[in-house]
Amino acid sequence: MIFVLMGAPGAGKGSQADRLVEEEGFFKISTGDALRKHIKSLTDVGKEAAGFVNEGKLVPDETLLKVLKEEIELAQGKPILLDGYPRNVAQAESLEGLNLDLKGVLHLDVDHGELVQRLSGRRVCSNCGATYHSKFKPTKVDGICDRCGGAVILRSDDAPEKVEVRLKVYEDSTKPVLDFYRSKGVLTSLSGEGTEGEISERIKGVIDAKRN
Ligand code: AP5
Ligand code: MG
Repeated sequence: MIFVLMGAPGAGKGSQADRLVEEEGFFKISTGDALRKHIKSLTDVGKEAAGFVNEGKLVPDETLLKVLKEEIELAQGKPILLDGYPRNVAQAESLEGLNLDLKGVLHLDVDHGELVQRLSGRRVCSNCGATYHSKFKPTKVDGICDRCGGAVILRSDDAPEKVEVRLKVYEDSTKPVLDFYRSKGVLTSLSGEGTEGEISERIKGVIDAKRN
């Protein structure tokens, strides 16, 4: 069983997916997190992807499909929550080709100004990947991850000029994927604004209605 979580950069996909992993036993696949791990470990995929990720552009489709298949293996049959894939219509078609049991696609809808505010204040743990925000979700001790004690840093693609590129890529390449799923009757759009807890309840409501 698989659910896809979609939304613009900063919409809260990663934050919400982490909650669903803890509270509902999903296996999270974040292609962004997977690519950042490859980049850190200097794998061939990482070397190829680094320039694209740092510039806020899409990494080539064939590479992403390889990364996705590796991550699916790791799920070992657990229900999957997919964050960050598909990001264009070709990727949506590749995902269909894998014949997974797609139960639904959830789109977190967030206003442009709010996205920019969220991304400009985001901080991430360099060790475990936990996500914080300087104003909305600060760490208890400045610069130190609450979960693992790792150093909390800025993501390199959260610089304002990179954020602009990422939002444009979303408009041009990823928004058409929403139409692709809408036409198939599997898309649910919901507001991604409010507290994390409120949004999580909305998401769980949709998942509960569709999971069986
Ligand atoms: P990826 O890591 O997926 O980045 P993204 O899509 O730009 O999304 P983000 O991770 O920035 O945002 P999010 O929605 O997860 O929000 P978050 O929960 O962190 O991809 C990175 C790059 O990898 C891409 O640019 C591309 O280069 C490459 N890539 C990945 N997948 C690819 C693919 N399929 N094909 C090709 N290339 C690919 O929240 C953001 C902030 O807001 C946080 O600080 C959080 O604390 C805060 N926040 C969250 N919810 C709330 C709330 N309700 N109220 C207030 N603040 C909130
Ligand atoms: Mg994310």
